[in-house]
Amino acid sequence: MDKITLSAINKLKAESKKFSVLTAYDSTFAQIISEAGVEILLVGDSLGMVVQGRDSTVPVTMNDMIYHTRAVAKGNRGSLIMADMPFMSYATEEDTLTNAAQLMQAGAHIVKLEGGDWLNKTVSRLTQSGIPVCAHIGLTPQSVNKLGGYRVQGRDQQDAQNLVEDALALERAGADILLMECIPGALATQITQQLSIPTIGIGAGSGTDAQVLVLHDMLGIATDYSPRFVKNFLVETGNIQEAIAAYDRAVKTGTFPGPEHCY
Ligand code: KIV
Repeated sequence: MDKITLSAINKLKAESKKFSVLTAYDSTFAQIISEAGVEILLVGDSLGMVVQGRDSTVPVTMNDMIYHTRAVAKGNRGSLIMADMPFMSYATEEDTLTNAAQLMQAGAHIVKLEGGDWLNKTVSRLTQSGIPVCAHIGLTPQSVNKLGGYRVQGRDQQDAQNLVEDALALERAGADILLMECIPGALATQITQQLSIPTIGIGAGSGTDAQVLVLHDMLGIATDYSPRFVKNFLVETGNIQEAIAAYDRAVKTGTFPGPEHCY
């Protein structure tokens, strides 16, 4: 496929074409996923759980993220690589710039940070420095200890309004993409319609511009409980390459997620 840039992603949004995102943590899967036509490879800090066997993303370090981003960059065949900034790696301005630069030098094309409008200054500094940013709102797993568990966010009116305001503020601050995790589908659709930047959803219904899943979840090989928004694509295809291609097709044609995967 042609090399996917941020401009290519913005063009898909302008043409109302859906695009797909999948996590990748190593070179072999990066190649398979990229060759299947998935536009964005997310080097997610979910690797703490599915690769390292931890019970949250909190222990993931910058060195872990650099190691996996380098591996994904080796196998990539033209997708855009998004890398997560791990827990506390963007707590100060100096740390943010140093750590984001390391991920870009490891092969990322865009970094992802979790949080609301309190990240505005951070997002502005990064984008002014030439580093594209995806802001991640809703269920933000790095804050699991503060949130008290992995729960759907934005269910009551005030929380929903706060998420709308966070999204608008982050776009104004310069965020290039917004990712929404585990929020009601109607709210994610409303936010997508109010923004001009592309949105990615996970457990956020079918109204976002793109979908993301954790690779191990969509292959049905994650050992823990499977959330409602996950679909196992391996069970219907019996082959890893086919499962990833089926996911990509389902996202692009709008058949995934279905109502059974939404809140
Ligand atoms: O770390 C990750 O894989 C993520 C997705 C769950 C969106 O952030």
